[in-house]
Amino acid sequence: MAKVFAIANQKGGVGKTTTCINLAASLVATKRRVLLIDLDPQGNATTGSGVDKLTLEHSIYDVLTGECSLVDAMQFSEHGGYQLLPSNRDLTAAEVVLLDMEMKEHRLRQALAPVRENYDYILIDCPPSLSMLTVNALSASDGVIIPMQCEYYALEGLTDLINSIQRIGERLNPALKIEGLLRTMYDPRISLTNDVSNQLQEHFGDKLYTTVIPRNVRLAEAPSFGMPALVYDKNSRGAIAYLALAGELARRQRASRSTAPA
Ligand SMILES: Nc1ncnc2c1ncn2[C@@H]1O[C@H](COP(=O)(O)OP(=O)(O)OP(=O)(O)O)[C@@H](O)[C@H]1O
Ligand SMILES: [Mg+2]
Repeated sequence: MAKVFAIANQKGGVGKTTTCINLAASLVATKRRVLLIDLDPQGNATTGSGVDKLTLEHSIYDVLTGECSLVDAMQFSEHGGYQLLPSNRDLTAAEVVLLDMEMKEHRLRQALAPVRENYDYILIDCPPSLSMLTVNALSASDGVIIPMQCEYYALEGLTDLINSIQRIGERLNPALKIEGLLRTMYDPRISLTNDVSNQLQEHFGDKLYTTVIPRNVRLAEAPSFGMPALVYDKNSRGAIAYLALAGELARRQRASRSTAPA
């Protein structure tokens, strides 16, 4: 049964999509079955997975509104090696259309139910807002992975984000956990990075992944070729960091299984 993780942060440009694509490809490289869901009307995870967002026959929008099944909208990312549920600007309308639908917060969870057992991991790329789309992602997920840059304002936004996740969780999905915080675009030469990093460590302890994602130009270049960094330049520091993250994720999973009550 797949573990479902929402990759979320209402702050824009923190590395959500980069994390989704590269973590998905790294999990595939370690023989996991992965489905990546692009839940952002920007469609960046779709393009970055090598799928043309302008010529989609079906997208996540059709799945959420019940016009087609998830399997009908799915496409294979050739370079990434994972299945993709693509998105494009059509999804902007979902915010309004969903409001009039039954179970509006649970549409994604319902759509995922029949395919969960076909995957080891399902990753959801959220838009940079706490919209109805993000609420659907949080309702469908076991945990939230929060990518963040180590800057002063990031800490302020983080408190709001965690409070919102807890509120939404209590109402719609009591089992929802903060799976982990991921430091992205990390540059240890900047002293503020180290200060913020130390504060994160103090506040969040084990929730903070030990793996950090460095600022690496290969990670920024790869999406324009529709590739994860692992295929674009497998020896790049970015590609290696995301492989390490996949390893850390799997280790945590094993550790939590071995301590779970029988
Ligand atoms: N570790 C990194 N090193 C260098 N560039 C990066 C790194 N991570 C992300 N980027 C670049 O930073 C920009 C923002 O990253 P990304 O699109 O992943 O963020 P996002 O949180 O998904 O943004 P949005 O909120 O708009 O969806 C992109 O141009 C991406 O290529
Ligand atoms: Mg994004």
